[in-house]
Amino acid sequence: MSIDRPTGPFREGDRVQLTGPKGKLHTITLRADGELHTHHGVLRHGELIGRPDGSVVTNSAGHEYLALRPLLRDFVMSMPRGAAIVYPKDAAQILAEADVFPGAVVVEAGVGSGALSLWLLRAIGENGRLVSFERREDFAEVAQANVETFLGKRPANWDVRVGDLAEELPSALAPASVDRVVLDMLAPWECVDVVADALTPGGVVLCYVATATQLSRVAEYIRGTGLFTEPDANETMVRGWHVEGLAVRPDHRMVAHTGFLIWARRLAPGAIPPEQKRRASKSSYGDEDVELWTPGAVGDREISDKNLRKRVREAQRAADGARLAAEGRGGDDADGPA
Ligand SMILES: C[S@@+](CC[C@H](N)C(=O)[O-])C[C@H]1O[C@@H](n2cnc3c(N)ncnc32)[C@H](O)[C@@H]1O
Repeated sequence: MSIDRPTGPFREGDRVQLTGPKGKLHTITLRADGELHTHHGVLRHGELIGRPDGSVVTNSAGHEYLALRPLLRDFVMSMPRGAAIVYPKDAAQILAEADVFPGAVVVEAGVGSGALSLWLLRAIGENGRLVSFERREDFAEVAQANVETFLGKRPANWDVRVGDLAEELPSALAPASVDRVVLDMLAPWECVDVVADALTPGGVVLCYVATATQLSRVAEYIRGTGLFTEPDANETMVRGWHVEGLAVRPDHRMVAHTGFLIWARRLAPGAIPPEQKRRASKSSYGDEDVELWTPGAVGDREISDKNLRKRVREAQRAADGARLAAEGRGGDDADGPA
C-alpha cells in the first residue's frame, strides 16, 4: 500500500480485504500472478489490479468478493499482537488531547505491538519525527513488522530504540527538544522526570493507564514535580448503535473499559503557575472524613442528635423485645420499630 495515499485503483503490493461468501474475510497482498484459493474456487489477483477500491469481483466458481483496502482501524484490530494495543477510540483521543501535529517531534513508550505508533506516524506526517522506546526486543520486532506491513515500507522518520525509557531517553534526545510524549506502560511515573527534561516548554506529556490506582499515582507524581500544569484526565466510552429500519437503538454489547488518559503541559524553567483556587486533596482519610461524606454520598439528610437518641432507644427496645420473646416471656415491640 502506498504510504502517501492509500487511495485510487488497486496496485500491485496493495493490501486488500476481501469479504467473500457468508461474510468470510480474507486479507491479501496483490501480486500480478497471485491467486486466492478457497474451497469456493480461485480468485486471481489480476482481477483486482487496476479496479477502483470498493469493487466487487467474481472468482472461478462465480462467487462474489467485495474488495476494500483495510482502514488503519481495521488493520490494528487484526494485526499480530505482542502486547495489548491502544484501541482506535483511545488513539483518536490521544492524538487530540496530546495535540499531536504535523511536523511534531514525538516520543512514545512502550511500543508494544505498534498500534499507537501507526496513528502517531500518520498524525506527524513525513516532516515529523517519532522515537519509540520498548524494553522488550521481541515486542519491538512485532511492532516494526506491523508498521512495515501496513505502510509497505519502514518510515524514514521513525526510530525504534530497545531499552527502558527512563534509562535511554536522556542520551537519545537533547533536553527540551521533544514536543509531545505519550506513555503507554505499567509505571509511567518512573519516567516522568526524564520526560520533563526532554520536553520543550509548553510540550505535552500524556499517559494512557488501565487502572484508577495508576491514574492516581501518576497524577500525584506529575503534580509533585512542580514542572507541569495541573493534569487533566478522562476516559472514552463509545457505544455503537444498531441502525436498521425501525430498529434504531444502542448495541446490546460494548467495550466498557480500556484505559484512562491523563495529560499535562511542561512549564517553562522556573515558572510557578498562579495559585489555583482549589483545596488540596488529602492522600488518606480519617474517621471524621468518613463521617462527613457518608450521609451525603448515600443521599441521606444529616440526622439531629435528638433524633439519633430516639432511634437508639427504639433500637434498644426492639432488641429487648426480641430477647424476651426468644426467652419465651413475650414483650412489647417484639417486632421492632415501625
Ligand atoms: C500496553 S503495551 C503498549 C502498546 C502500544 N501502545 C500499542 O498500541 O501497541 C506496553 C509496553 O510498554 C513496555 N514498557 C513498559 N515499561 C517500559 C519502559 N519503562 N520503557 C520502555 N518500554 C516499556 C512493555 O514492554 C510493553 O510492551
